[in-house]
Amino acid sequence: MEILDNELVCSIHLYMRAKILSFTATSITAILLSGCSKLKAPLSSTLTMTVVENGEKISSEITGDQITSLPKATKMLSFEANGEEKETTIVYLKDALDKLQPVGENDLLLTNCSDNYQSIFTQEVIESARPYFVLEVEGQALNGWLTSIEHPEWGPHIINIENPEGLLDPSHKNPWGLVELVVVKKEDALAGWADHDMGEPAQRGLNLYLDSCASCHHTGNGILGGKKSTRPLKLLSIFAVSNEAYFRGMLKDPQKTNPLAQTMPSYAHWSEKNVKDLIEFLKSTVK
Ligand code: HEC
Repeated sequence: MEILDNELVCSIHLYMRAKILSFTATSITAILLSGCSKLKAPLSSTLTMTVVENGEKISSEITGDQITSLPKATKMLSFEANGEEKETTIVYLKDALDKLQPVGENDLLLTNCSDNYQSIFTQEVIESARPYFVLEVEGQALNGWLTSIEHPEWGPHIINIENPEGLLDPSHKNPWGLVELVVVKKEDALAGWADHDMGEPAQRGLNLYLDSCASCHHTGNGILGGKKSTRPLKLLSIFAVSNEAYFRGMLKDPQKTNPLAQTMPSYAHWSEKNVKDLIEFLKSTVK
């Protein structure tokens, strides 16, 4: 209990600091945005491939030529940005990995975006959802097409999925503004936050966390989790343990529960079992 108390004090401190920091960041962003219309330009055109071996990251750049030399397909696909089916030239992620970085023991793929968002792909999801890179839309290179619909910041690299079936939150498998692909052994990606023994409900909760929360809430191990939110897993766990009503409120109606959470999606579509499993997992991380 003493450990928990210490953690609670640290977390409250972190929480207060995070509140002040995010208020300052929000104000600065608001000032910047009000005077700058050029912020929509793509932030980076390079795509980095990182392999994590024994905790060490080895990175290299994937060139445009490498991507265009991959096996392509042209299909009528509906695109998140416009909702209608359009002729789209794609490269399946599986084919890209086979050529660029055979998966081997590194069975988890993390995709990092320029806005600190991360999508997480297990081998099963790569098989079933069939994620693909978008190269061209209606014969136009993706960046040109995105500029024509006034969203250059979504480029230059986007992944979409062909089959959302079986995914509770398929939108978390559509990262845009991609800057880095990370291949890592799942076990290494879970190190330090989800490597403890846990029962089946918590195990299911961990999978929910990976698919639906880790895109924005990082885990503190420097590998897994996006940093769109300033609140790490540890803090979410503290809320789940100490203020379940607030935690449940955040899942159901985030903007009403915490006006700072403008970018946090609602999980009102989750079943009570999903919510319980997630809470069970989060609780297991603070024991
Ligand atoms: C698209 C990004 C995104 C996703 C995905 C997301 N969140 Fe959040 N979450 C946020 C942001 C942004 C905040 C507001 C605080 C901040 O600015 O960091 C927040 C805040 C929270 C808070 C309140 C923290 C506090 O300090 O009051 C909880 C609890 C929380 N999220 C839980 C979750 C859980 C559980 C999931 C998955 C089911 C999830 N979030 C998924 C972005 C996200």
